[in-house]
Amino acid sequence: MTQTAVLPVLNYIAGEWIGSSSGETTEDRNPARSDEILGQATASTAEDVRRAIDAAEAAFREWRATPAPQRGDIVRKAADLMERRRDELARLLTQEEGKVLAESLAEVDRAIANVRFAAAQGTRMTGETIPSAQRRTFIYTVREPVGVVACVTPWNFPIAIPAWKIAPALVAGNTVIFKPASLTPLCAAQVVQCFVDAGLPDGVLNMVLGVGETLSRAITSDDRVKAISFTGSSAVGRRLYTQAAERLCKVQLEMGGKNAVIVMDDADLEKAAESVATGAFGATGQRCTATSRAVVVRSVLAEFTDLLADKAETWRAGDGLEAGAKVLRDGGTPTRRDLRAGYFVEPTIFSDVDPRAPLAQEEIFGPVVSVIPADDLESALAAANAVGYGLSSSIYTNDLGTAFRYAEESQAGMLHVNIPTLGGEAQVPFGGVKDSGFGDRECGTAAFDFFSEQRVVYVGY
Ligand code: UN1
Repeated sequence: MTQTAVLPVLNYIAGEWIGSSSGETTEDRNPARSDEILGQATASTAEDVRRAIDAAEAAFREWRATPAPQRGDIVRKAADLMERRRDELARLLTQEEGKVLAESLAEVDRAIANVRFAAAQGTRMTGETIPSAQRRTFIYTVREPVGVVACVTPWNFPIAIPAWKIAPALVAGNTVIFKPASLTPLCAAQVVQCFVDAGLPDGVLNMVLGVGETLSRAITSDDRVKAISFTGSSAVGRRLYTQAAERLCKVQLEMGGKNAVIVMDDADLEKAAESVATGAFGATGQRCTATSRAVVVRSVLAEFTDLLADKAETWRAGDGLEAGAKVLRDGGTPTRRDLRAGYFVEPTIFSDVDPRAPLAQEEIFGPVVSVIPADDLESALAAANAVGYGLSSSIYTNDLGTAFRYAEESQAGMLHVNIPTLGGEAQVPFGGVKDSGFGDRECGTAAFDFFSEQRVVYVGY
């Protein structure tokens, strides 16, 4: 057992790092070397959540009164600190979450871009003036914070997702309860530390560590929490929404995906295969925008499948800190002796998949892609749309008409033409339809729609 530098990871409540009221901890392990313990994370109770909400509630009045550009300044400093700590954060991310270092660096950069974008919105928290139907009446709107909000985040993007929820929440004037995934407490603590070091007043951001349901129940059932932004599975999102709806708490859900790439006969097949491989095997397929299905018209099916199989051969399983790693192929666990202590799965491709089979319907969250044959654009769209999810999709074609027809008909929140299903830019709304998303979009200015309320003022003079 590797026992170097086992860090205690604590809650952050009212400006202090403190252990939970239970006194219990959970082990935080490196998924590439499951015998390596990275930290001992405090395991919180509903009582700890209540304390965090007390602190956030107490800090709200003063934070709301802080001018939005000043709130933005503090948040921008947090982005600068993330940039200064970029390499350190990325290495930690790889050790704790398992993605390869290049992907971790990209994730940290994305966090920085999102925090910077949100910070700049501090100077743009504008309303509008609306002409009144009455004489001598002036109508204007302003953005008000919602109050105490909760950010509940997953383990697969343990730096970027917290960053892109917390930053707009703070800039909009809310105080925050942050409940990160129990698998990635160290990354979560580092995100909090950047905001703390940037000069955030005590109580404005509070983090509660621990496992699932008790903590989320304590959040959804507390009247003082006015909004909950959640990223995770559709099953948990649905439960959270049901609980919060009871007391009309605002909810934003960013959930799973079963994203399809349609490959037409006029596509650049090389590019399409590369896109599917990157989309399916990158980040070990553990992202909601991962490519999970390739819907390919029959005339190019054989050629495309060969190309994809070739691409899969170039991926390699391994510890994410090993330089330049990609992953291998053919399911199962790798045979390399030094990988036995880690949780590895190699790239897997299924062909001739029935679009109604569970394999083609359920989110796998692993480096697995199903190839589904189609006759033409219409049948490809029908197959691509025939799932409960609707997060992201893509088409590979050189025909403008085909691309626009796809854009009209694809049942997803984020569409791509000749671009992989992955990712999203900081200034652009992010989110899905159907079982993939509910409520306002994340990122871009859309995040501020969720984290603020519009207030209308009628002035008679
Ligand atoms: C991305 O795929 O680049 O949990 C972002 C997830 C998404 C974010 C993914 N909410 O995977």
